[in-house]
Amino acid sequence: MNNEIKKEQIDLSSPSLSGQQIIILAIESSCDDTAAAVCLNGKILSNFIANQKVHEKYGGVVPELASRAHMQNIVPVVDVALQQAGITLNEIDAIAFTQAPGLIGSLLVGSGFAKSLSLSLNKPLIAVHHMQAHVLANLIPNTPPNGGDGGKPLFPFLCLTVSGGHTQIVLAESPTKMKVIGETLDDAAGEAFDKSAKLLGLPYPGGPLIDKYAQEGNPKRFSFAEPQIDALDFSFSGLKTSILYFLQKETKADPQFIQNNLADICASLQFRIVSILLKKLKKAALQNGIKHLCIAGGVSANSELRASFQKMCDENDWKAFIPPFEFCTDNAAMIAITGYYKYLANDFTDLSVSASARAGW
Ligand code: KG4
Ligand code: ZN
Repeated sequence: MNNEIKKEQIDLSSPSLSGQQIIILAIESSCDDTAAAVCLNGKILSNFIANQKVHEKYGGVVPELASRAHMQNIVPVVDVALQQAGITLNEIDAIAFTQAPGLIGSLLVGSGFAKSLSLSLNKPLIAVHHMQAHVLANLIPNTPPNGGDGGKPLFPFLCLTVSGGHTQIVLAESPTKMKVIGETLDDAAGEAFDKSAKLLGLPYPGGPLIDKYAQEGNPKRFSFAEPQIDALDFSFSGLKTSILYFLQKETKADPQFIQNNLADICASLQFRIVSILLKKLKKAALQNGIKHLCIAGGVSANSELRASFQKMCDENDWKAFIPPFEFCTDNAAMIAITGYYKYLANDFTDLSVSASARAGW
């Protein structure tokens, strides 16, 4: 229980600077997508992403190839984002970029580019934490309401942030004040999807494919172990091992087992991952007495997670906020909205800032 948090919920998400127009150019390059976005007073004017296909044949992201592709993509991607927004470089008020966490080579391309722009245009620079940005994707104004009466979550709210590298329950007290109150002790939820998909012979990233095959499957057909972890933390490495042993045993008896049961395996696996996630989120909401709940990150694109999260919130009379798909997986719009709030808070950085693969909150 956090005693510092005021019990009444407050809307800190619609500040204004007495009619001033604030235009942020945002750059995201933490992993294998090169993305740029422009926002005007928190409204997203453009959100453009160049996905890197080069990694598909390797079954995962190859950091060196990702950095090289960012180098090739970054100028045209920023150009398209500006054009789509109808904004010129001279009109922007600040440049926001992902500073951490992520692949260091990829982050260096984005941060180096942002710093060069800042220097040449003489515009302020804003360093953004990628995980904080995933949470604030829920504050993007045109996010469709999922809680009944529309709009954005009120502070303090909880966010289950689930991506390829992180699984966290975040207590957001304001756009710039957040605390991780639960996280994975080993694999992330996205890794649990991707590594299980690999065991099933599916290409990377396997999460969306498991989601697709699961639509046709029976989630109760196979039962996968639920880890017993203290407090609000998670663990997914045991699940991965139990799937490995399960598949080894079954394919020994029937070499066609995976092909013949793919939909049921995917549905059962997805059911277990989602139930592990939501059980802890529910515990966090009850412990903290918080009624506005969000999900974020690539895994929040998962259809079962979205549906079960909504159901859990409805049953408990909580409000559920779910970002549109394009703001769940990595994107620059979330960097832009975070940049906007940091601009309002006068939270700028200087050119000595360096990208960081790991970063605390
Ligand atoms: O947030 P994100 O785009 O990148 C990181 O910051 O990691 O998350 C990527 C992760 C991958 O593990 C991918 O498999 C997973 O999100 N993912 C999904 C779905 N869409 C993306 N997992 C399950 N179901 C989906 N529909
Ligand atoms: Zn991410």
